[in-house]
Amino acid sequence: MNILVIGSGAREHAITAALHRSEQQPKIFCYGTTINPGIKQMTHHYRVGNIKDVDAVVKMAKEWQVSLAIIGPEAPLEKGLADAFWLASIPVIGPKQKLAQIETSKSYARDLMRKYHIKGLPHYRTFNSLAGIAEYLKELGQDGYVVKANGLMSGKGVKVAGDHLHSFEEAMAYCREILEHGQTLVIEEKLIGQEFSLMSFCDGEHIIPMPIVQDHKRAFVDDKGPNTGGMGSYSDANHSLPFLTESDVTQAKKINEEVFRALSAELFDKYIGVLYGSFIVTRKGVYVIEFNARFGDPEALNVLTILESDFVELCQSMVTGNLSTENVKFAPLATVCKYAVPNGYPDAPVTDMPIDISAVKNKAQLYLSSVNAIDGQIYATGARTAAYVGVADSISAAEEIAEREISGIGGPLFHRDDIGTDKLIRKRVDEMRRLRAT
Ligand code: AMP
Ligand code: GLY
Repeated sequence: MNILVIGSGAREHAITAALHRSEQQPKIFCYGTTINPGIKQMTHHYRVGNIKDVDAVVKMAKEWQVSLAIIGPEAPLEKGLADAFWLASIPVIGPKQKLAQIETSKSYARDLMRKYHIKGLPHYRTFNSLAGIAEYLKELGQDGYVVKANGLMSGKGVKVAGDHLHSFEEAMAYCREILEHGQTLVIEEKLIGQEFSLMSFCDGEHIIPMPIVQDHKRAFVDDKGPNTGGMGSYSDANHSLPFLTESDVTQAKKINEEVFRALSAELFDKYIGVLYGSFIVTRKGVYVIEFNARFGDPEALNVLTILESDFVELCQSMVTGNLSTENVKFAPLATVCKYAVPNGYPDAPVTDMPIDISAVKNKAQLYLSSVNAIDGQIYATGARTAAYVGVADSISAAEEIAEREISGIGGPLFHRDDIGTDKLIRKRVDEMRRLRAT
């Protein structure tokens, strides 16, 4: 069986590795933006090109006679790559363009939740001009709002009052900036609590959740600094997180499922792929931060590393509408993922710097990301460079492994050494306990 993976980051490296482990021994092909040597060594053919060029990608897929495609990142989904694959009779993991609006338009996602009365919706309003913005910011109150550019921004288009916006004037300036770029924006109530990610496999009819993961969006230790694509993440052996109650987990699963069904009802089409709910548990319960129409990065690294089911079979069950809990088994183990990123990331990263991974002992759990391989040398290209996933019985033991291995990568890189540590987990649990008591 010929399977095509679109994208060449760490998420796609983890997807490729999961396919590679399959007893079905598929021939794997990759269409990526640079040469990721981790992916390349597992693939039959590897093409570098523009993954948003729908025609070029589908043409290549036909030439390679692929019978299944997996779309990693969101940008090709926005361009309608999934639609083009289905038109070419190539089954694909990743929703069609209209369904992917659940990620590509923040206002679409919020409006859908409102229309279908789905719980977990914060107060929000969408704006396409300055009219009414000042009044709404004042209504939400000082430090009570979040401003979001209404498009794909790689997790960097959101500014939170108190953290990134320090005054009413700064908030107005950011709104003006977004509008001047020709985008609309969403302003919403700022929610206080702990964030978590719940991804689900979807086959158009059925939706099955994966283990819950907590990402760390902020660049620096102690959740300081700008938002990034995600600096690292952890999951627990029980597939929940230490600060969540059973009821929180049930609520999040229910919201994912209701959104999945609302999308089908609204668009008369089947959502096939991964639906990723980004949630925040507050003292008033679980709220939605946003939805993504694909695997999370780094979250995919946590879950795919401990996936026990055959990933090829799982993907086949998704595109044929036969997904069941039988296809979706994860090992009862904890994972901690840490990303090494270039110095200066995310605002002014150093680029095209050589890195050395020779000291990393177990390379099976090292996932390369924004790198390029030229004449046997790996270069960090500027975005997140490489991630390591430690796996163990406890978060604490997984953290030790991840910390040791990620520190072994040579080059002008840094990582967050606090992700997954007992200290940070205890802080999260204490914060949540205090919040629930108020
Ligand atoms: P997003 O790109 O929508 O995932 O937002 C990036 C980050 O901004 C999230 O991970 C949160 O930390 C923060 N954020 C987004 N929306 C809200 C909200 N309504 N309240 C508090 N924080 C938010
Ligand atoms: N972990 C954040 C994302 O994949 O968007």
